[in-house]
Amino acid sequence: MRLIVLGGPGSGKGTQSKKLSEHFGIPWISTGDVLRAEIAADSTLGQQVSETLAKGELVSDRLMISFIRKRLQQTDAANGWILDGYPRTAFQAEELDFFLDSLNTQVTYAIWLELPTHSLIERSENRAAIDDTPDALRRRIETLAETTIPMLEYYDYRQRLLSIDGNQPADDVKRENLTGIR
Ligand code: AP5
Repeated sequence: MRLIVLGGPGSGKGTQSKKLSEHFGIPWISTGDVLRAEIAADSTLGQQVSETLAKGELVSDRLMISFIRKRLQQTDAANGWILDGYPRTAFQAEELDFFLDSLNTQVTYAIWLELPTHSLIERSENRAAIDDTPDALRRRIETLAETTIPMLEYYDYRQRLLSIDGNQPADDVKRENLTGIR
């Protein structure tokens, strides 16, 4: 099982990825969590991306692609994974498929958690992570519309897109995910 979870800020990508990771026994790879951990550790990567995250902008495709390529070649990822927050641009999506082709595999489903903007804002405000300031949140929602939503066509065209109503209790979202995956 090779799953991608896509959605806006606060849409529940992390919440659902954790549930699906436990259900299928596959690693949960959250690019946002990895980047925040690098910033907290003040690593070279963390220093490179901290300003970008604080502004709510996307980290460069070059950095993200390089990270994902390495991560997906680790042994725990050999039999499946769930990517939370990756890909986020059409270029990342195309490059991921290109890379998976070279490994003779492919994405099983791209799950799109659909929520109205006001729910994204409410959930993110309640959570208040380092990149949940009003300006960064506004920018993250703009970025979602500019780069992530256009990317959905890519998976829809390849008949791998699973659109899920994310605006319901987390266990109901999980149930809808599992129904769609089967
Ligand atoms: P990322 O961490 O992916 O941020 P995000 O998209 O803004 O999403 P969040 O982590 O804020 O929320 P979530 O959807 O995981 O929701 P959660 O489950 O936590 O990325 C951060 C930044 O890193 C980006 O802005 C960018 O700069 C960079 N980045 C990451 N990936 C990148 C990439 N591929 N390319 C370039 N840059 C990249 O839930 C949120 C809250 O809602 C929680 O409090 C939760 O308890 C609650 N909740 C969840 N589900 C429900 C429910 N069903 N009902 C009620 N409450 C719920």
